[in-house]
Amino acid sequence: KVGAMTTSTATIGVIGGSGFYSFLDDIEEVRLDTPYGPPSDPIAVGTVAGRTVAFIPRHGRDHRYPPHKIPYRANLWALRSLGVRQVLAPSAVGSLVPQYGPGTLAVPDQLVDRTYGRVQTFYEEGGAIHVSFADPYCPVGRRVVLDTARKADWEPVDGGTLVVIEGPRFSTRAESQWYAAQGWTLVGMTGHPEAVLARELALCYTPICLVTDLDAGIEEGEGVTMEEVFRVFAKNVNRLRSLVTAVVEALPADRDCPCPHALDDMNLPLQLP
Ligand code: ADE
Repeated sequence: KVGAMTTSTATIGVIGGSGFYSFLDDIEEVRLDTPYGPPSDPIAVGTVAGRTVAFIPRHGRDHRYPPHKIPYRANLWALRSLGVRQVLAPSAVGSLVPQYGPGTLAVPDQLVDRTYGRVQTFYEEGGAIHVSFADPYCPVGRRVVLDTARKADWEPVDGGTLVVIEGPRFSTRAESQWYAAQGWTLVGMTGHPEAVLARELALCYTPICLVTDLDAGIEEGEGVTMEEVFRVFAKNVNRLRSLVTAVVEALPADRDCPCPHALDDMNLPLQLP
C-alpha cells in the first residue's frame, strides 16, 4: 500500500539525472509502491540543513530506464506520498545556442513538449482536470537556484525554453536547427512529462539544467554522442551536487508561490497522497 511501509517524510524532493546519484548523508532507504507501480529506484531520505530531502535517481541506479520508459508518475506520486512539496530536477541537456557551451548551467522558464506516447496526466478518468501550465516552473525555486548559483560563482543562464524530445535518439541536424530557429535554447529528453505531473500534484518543480553538449544543428563535428553527454556530466557532477545542496539550504519552507494552488477549486477524481 502506498506509503504504508515507511514513516519517513521529506519536504524537498530531488530527481537526479544521468550520473547524479545521491548527495545525502545518513540516508534511510525507502521502498514503496504506488498506484502507478514502483518509482525508478528505492528513495533515499536524508537531512540537509534541517530539511528532510528525498532523492530518486531518475533513470534508476544502474541507468536501466531510458527517458521514454521512466516511471514519471510513480516517481512524483512516491515523492508526494513522502511529504515532498518542492521538487528540484537536475538534468543533462543539449544546447541550441553556440554561446551556451558544455558546463553551462541553465534554469529555463519555458518548455515545449515534443514527446509522444508518454502518459502525461494523473487524471485519466473520473472527470476533466485541466491544470494551468502557462508557466511550467516554480518562480521561487527558479529564483533560489539562480541566486545560489551566482553566489557559488557559477553564472547561470536565466530563462529560455527547454524543448523535450521523445528520444532515445538524439536530434537530426535539421530538427536541431529548426528548434534553434524557433528561439528554443535547450534540448533534453526527461523534462516532460515530469514537470506537468508535478503541477498536477500541486508540487513546486524547478529544473536545474547542465549543458553537456552543443546539439547537432549547432556544432560542426560528429553530432552528439552518449559518451560525450556522460563524460561532461561526470566532469561537472560534483559542482552540481554542491549547488543542489546549497539550493536545499536556501529554499524557503513556506511556499509563497502559485504552485500549491494548482488544484484549488477542482473536483479531483482521486485522493492525493
Ligand atoms: N541530453 C543531453 N544532451 C542532449 C541533446 N543534445 N539532446 C537531447 N537530450 C540531451
